[in-house]
Amino acid sequence: MAMNPFKERGIPLEKQIRNWKQIALLPYRKQQVDAYTRTRIILMNGIENEGWFFKHSFARNTDHKEIQARLAETRRVEHQQQVTINWLNPPDQTILETSIAYEQVAIDLTAYLARTEPDPYVKEVFDFGLLEDFDHLFRFAQMLDLIEGKDPDEILQGKTDVFPGRPTQDHHNDPILRLRKHYEKNQANPISKANILTLLSAEQQTALFYKSHGFQYGSPDLRELYAEISEVEEEHVTQYESLMDPKETWHEKWVCHEFVECANYYACYTTEVDPKLKQIWEMFLGYELEHLRIAGEMLKKYDKRDPEEIVGTTLPTPGTFEENKAYVADVLFNTVNKRLMPDGAFERIDALPSNWPSYAYQRIVNASGAPSEEVVRLRMESAGQELVRASEALAKRTAEIRLRSLDAEKAPNTAPERAEEVKPQYVARAA
Ligand SMILES: [Fe+2]
Ligand SMILES: [Fe+2]
Ligand SMILES: [Fe+2]
Ligand SMILES: [Fe+2]
Repeated sequence: MAMNPFKERGIPLEKQIRNWKQIALLPYRKQQVDAYTRTRIILMNGIENEGWFFKHSFARNTDHKEIQARLAETRRVEHQQQVTINWLNPPDQTILETSIAYEQVAIDLTAYLARTEPDPYVKEVFDFGLLEDFDHLFRFAQMLDLIEGKDPDEILQGKTDVFPGRPTQDHHNDPILRLRKHYEKNQANPISKANILTLLSAEQQTALFYKSHGFQYGSPDLRELYAEISEVEEEHVTQYESLMDPKETWHEKWVCHEFVECANYYACYTTEVDPKLKQIWEMFLGYELEHLRIAGEMLKKYDKRDPEEIVGTTLPTPGTFEENKAYVADVLFNTVNKRLMPDGAFERIDALPSNWPSYAYQRIVNASGAPSEEVVRLRMESAGQELVRASEALAKRTAEIRLRSLDAEKAPNTAPERAEEVKPQYVARAA
């Protein structure tokens, strides 16, 4: 049922501060947690971190004591929420296992947002990013098998395929090419605003996680893989934030942030299968409704606008996790050979100019080979085959996808060198 967040009563701010025991809850059991409960926890941690970052930036850019006070009060709550959510992750879940889950978030979140996105250009950008995170999952899965001897389905639970996407060695672009066209703030559908800020928060969280944890492995190949993929996540942050209208005022942005927190907690609350988690999502939704009311009051007072003008009166449900295998395969078959061009445009590989700016960038970063290719090579040497988890129909198209997806300049260690050598080891799944 649709919810109007401006008609609902939230939890008063003075009731939102919790004690240490209430903040640091016991973690879930990784053997029992539902895969999409884990992805909701990862997403909401990213949403809370973005809320916290944003409020610090705003506070550093205003001299109004009243605004600074409202930011400080609600920001303390965002901090407590973030710690509670992130610390639900159990200490025995390894960094690689968590990375598999982060890419599952990226894939199934981006696919859901693309499917529900009303703006065709925004959808095209989402589809483009989708195939990159889809490939990251494949690369991390090779190392989860090699280093920890685990199957990615222990984390994914068969809900997300493990299969090569647009090759990670080709995700490294001239920084300017990642800049896309932004929406117009007074014309954009609130669903687009919510979708973009949600995905941006998730990608930022992923970039932070990889660059904060990749060094904790001793394997040089895995360290380089984290260095490589964390930089792609930085490209994704650049890409998605460039979709937002930079003319939005600080107050408009504040309203958008609280609205997005409400929308995602609402989606989590309505889809959660774990009763303990459901209670947390409901409580935090109550917190955010009050934050939204406060941000709306500040907008009315200082910008002389109503919050409904900015975000409408219906909560969308961006943070909805469900299977998207058919959608992802469709985007893969149709757009794996797409690349970024200046001014927010796209082009197919065959039509790229020889002086395409990203060739120059890739020549530098891939000069000693791409770690994302090396990990596939290592898995093939070790087990004879690369690790794939997909339906038989999809797995049979591995070589074809590989042929169509690599651009004119390949990393020197591209594995395998010839598409005909691809012999994926797959576990048959229902299509
Ligand atoms: Fe929050
Ligand atoms: Fe990724
Ligand atoms: Fe990403
Ligand atoms: Fe909030």
